[in-house]
Amino acid sequence: MTRQLTLVGFMQAGNVTVYSGSWRYPSADLGFLTMDYYTRIGKVLEDGKFDCVFFDDRLAMPGVYGGSVAEAVRYGARPVKLDLTAVLGGIIAATSRIGVGATYSTTYYPPFHVARTFATLDHLSGGRVAWNVVTSVNDSEAQNFGVDSHMDHDERYDKADEFLQVVTALWDSWDDDALIMDRESGTFADPAKVREVNHKGRYFSVRGPLTVPRTPQGRPVILQAGASGRGREFAAAWADMIFTGDPGLEVARQHYREQKEQIAAAGRDPDDVKVLPMAYAVVGETQAIAEEKERLFLNAYVHPMASLALLSELLNYDFAKHDLDDVVTGEMMAASGGIRSLAIAQRQHLGREVTVRDLAAHRATLLQGPRFVGTATAVADQMEEWFTTGACDGFVLAATHLPGAFEEFVRMVVPELQRRGLFRREYAGPTLRDHLGIARPR
Ligand SMILES: Cc1cc2nc3c(=O)[nH]c(=O)nc-3n(C[C@H](O)[C@H](O)[C@H](O)COP(=O)(O)O)c2cc1C
Repeated sequence: MTRQLTLVGFMQAGNVTVYSGSWRYPSADLGFLTMDYYTRIGKVLEDGKFDCVFFDDRLAMPGVYGGSVAEAVRYGARPVKLDLTAVLGGIIAATSRIGVGATYSTTYYPPFHVARTFATLDHLSGGRVAWNVVTSVNDSEAQNFGVDSHMDHDERYDKADEFLQVVTALWDSWDDDALIMDRESGTFADPAKVREVNHKGRYFSVRGPLTVPRTPQGRPVILQAGASGRGREFAAAWADMIFTGDPGLEVARQHYREQKEQIAAAGRDPDDVKVLPMAYAVVGETQAIAEEKERLFLNAYVHPMASLALLSELLNYDFAKHDLDDVVTGEMMAASGGIRSLAIAQRQHLGREVTVRDLAAHRATLLQGPRFVGTATAVADQMEEWFTTGACDGFVLAATHLPGAFEEFVRMVVPELQRRGLFRREYAGPTLRDHLGIARPR
């Protein structure tokens, strides 16, 4: 079969999408505390034959700005994050084909708990579940779990490696044919086919076996988004789908090539691992309508204070020390590498001194990725170019506002991708591994 796009809907179980002003958009549904909201979006994406709907997560409110969460709460800068297990359960019950993915941290959850959660969801969904492995980001998350400061970057990945060893061993602790369920003899399962894992390592000690039999997919699908050298190495070893955040084609092509080489070097088939840039699509009936919509999303509804609260969190720098109109100084750049690279890029773009307000305005969204803005044809053209010139295997599509952005994409862009043979018209099988065309592990 010809190669086709992998499409993942990028979701947040809270009041905002990755656009910090999304909740203010006039047609945005504010039902993010209801199950109907999530099931409706799951069904929309399933109608569009998406591979998967996936939820990000953070385990704390943004609390670096002014040393407080007040501005994040006041301006709705991601103060709400629901637990994802229940959200996934609702979507699973309301859909029958689409994959469902959730983020769980290897730094703050124990491996037995995570292995059990995703194995359970994989059974209940008939093999449609994915886990986004993150090592978490900052001190605010640490402080919600009784730790003062977040573990060092590379050590987090060492811990994550051991975490994955434990989780996969637990998923494999029941053989596929362990269940007998013979009422006559009274034999429920074969004890020779259910094993303890007896893991004793640097970070974890787990006896096992898992209390959940082997799942429809064998192992749930693994997602990962490591950008650093250590992160990419981890992804090459473990991930089935890798999320990237490259804004331009050239950078993305290089990243794609290098990541695929790294996967091969780790002894895996590069075709079995999908590399997916996160992307923004704003589709309109005309080019002018799409551009006007994008302008609204980026400018009109993003409060600078919401952006600053998120930016402080991301760059681990307290912008409350400055006025919005303060010029970004060398001192500020020295305090955070993130400020330096952002300010240099902004100065090139604006052709003048950069202020704190400029940094905030630039950061309507915190994740980088290409922006496809235009008619359905124009958006499909750009996606096709990325897909066919060695930049990606598909996309993780962010929503400007919900559920409208996904409804418009499914109604307008998906038929165009299907017409070009770039995307499926029907699901090939029942499991997420079937959608991705990757084998069930033995
Ligand atoms: C599409 C996408 C989604 C992500 N989702 C999360 C998330 O939900 N939670 C989180 O803590 N980090 C998330 N990240 C951040 C990554 O896990 C990772 O920390 C980041 O890309 C930096 O890479 P590094 O840790 O190797 O430096 C996401 C990144 C991308 C590109």
